[in-house]
Amino acid sequence: MALKVLPLVLALAPVTCLPTALVYESTTYLAQLSSAVAGKVGLRHCPCELSEDDREGVVAVVGMPRNITILKQLPQLKLVQSSSYMYPCLSTVPTQAAVAKIDVNWTSYGAEPIAEFVIAAVFHWSYDLSAKSALFGCGFGLGAPGGCPADSVLTSHPTVMGKRMGVVGYGTIGEAVVKRAFAMGMEVLASRRHGPFSLWLISDTDRVLAESDFVAVTVPGSVKGLINKTSLALMKPGAVLIPISANPVDFDALYQALLTRSIGAVLDVWPQGCWHFPDMFCGPPYSKEAQPYPQNIRSLSNVLTLPGVAMRDDRFWSNSAAFAGKNLVALANGSSLQGVVRNASAARAELI
Ligand SMILES: *[C@@H]1O[C@H](CO)[C@@H](O)[C@H](O)[C@H]1NC(C)=O
Ligand SMILES: *[C@@H]1O[C@H](CO)[C@@H](O)[C@H](O)[C@H]1NC(C)=O
Ligand SMILES: *[C@@H]1O[C@H](CO)[C@@H](O)[C@H](O)[C@H]1NC(C)=O
Ligand SMILES: *[C@@H]1O[C@H](CO)[C@@H](O)[C@H](O)[C@H]1NC(C)=O
Ligand SMILES: *[C@@H]1O[C@H](CO)[C@@H](O)[C@H](O)[C@H]1NC(C)=O
Repeated sequence: MALKVLPLVLALAPVTCLPTALVYESTTYLAQLSSAVAGKVGLRHCPCELSEDDREGVVAVVGMPRNITILKQLPQLKLVQSSSYMYPCLSTVPTQAAVAKIDVNWTSYGAEPIAEFVIAAVFHWSYDLSAKSALFGCGFGLGAPGGCPADSVLTSHPTVMGKRMGVVGYGTIGEAVVKRAFAMGMEVLASRRHGPFSLWLISDTDRVLAESDFVAVTVPGSVKGLINKTSLALMKPGAVLIPISANPVDFDALYQALLTRSIGAVLDVWPQGCWHFPDMFCGPPYSKEAQPYPQNIRSLSNVLTLPGVAMRDDRFWSNSAAFAGKNLVALANGSSLQGVVRNASAARAELI
């Protein structure tokens, strides 16, 4: 059917006049999106230079332009299609455009990649192989091993086996973490509200905090402030917090704890700023600075800051491209959009 329609579309509208979408994602994403739209929408890989004429032809933006003012320079803009479950702060998007996000199917996707991320964080914290390799720059140089630090400096590292994985909130994700932790020879201590309980599955969250080397916080995002000043004070020196949702964590208390105590954190989720779920607020003029702390949290040596990688693996992105592609085609043919966060304020104009 696509083959039959395509020549007709091309006949009516030469390629240069096709409604165009600006795509602020990887080249891989662009290729996947391109096969999803099957020639029904023109795609332009950005950031890019746009002439006045180019801008006239743009009906959609896919992904997150890093300079959001571009949205105000597109007179025909009808859709801002986020490529993720997050989307731009709505006040940055002109009201003539709809805003849509990607609807993720949590039944077939979600807990497993997040659990794997938690394990990756644990391994990274223990091994940091890239840092080891960098230190070993001395290894094969002229006059090696002269210039190399002592072997114990080069190689010493903790193992993951035997360490205790704490899981606060034993639900679907918690269970997926625990399964993997056991498989790696870790000890496990997990908490949830309701039984049945066991030697390692208990109701006492404070014990999980106090006795674990790594603490994954996998309670639902609807739980607020569970990880606060009091709970952080319970964590033992050297322990590492890995929250998978921002809401359960009091970030101000966490920042203070990271400044004053020898605990660590792998932070892949953010309560505000450019990487905040669901509506990204990227500093002035729309909101506060990207991170509000006096000392940039990134500069602390006991913190690993990440841009929300936990569940956005390759499969996530190819699903995203397929979803966004469908919406672009729907926009072009006038059918209804999926994942709408905000509708366009005026009736959608006919696309020519
Ligand atoms: C964003 O784009 C606008 C208009 O193109 C430009 O004036 C402004 O300097 C840009 N902002 C940044 C931070 O690059
Ligand atoms: C989500 O995934 C499940 C399992 O693969 C499937 O049965 C279900 O139909 C999907 N739901 C939607 C809305 O696509
Ligand atoms: C703060 O942490 C303590 C200790 O873990 C806990 O008992 C309390 O419920 C937490 N507060 C909130 C608001 O969750
Ligand atoms: C319009 O696009 C949507 C999304 O791809 C598709 O499901 C629908 O069949 C299309 N309708 C027409 C009339 O082509
Ligand atoms: C957008 O409009 C559609 C159709 O009128 C409606 O079903 C949907 O609920 C609206 N979505 C939002 C987020 O307002």
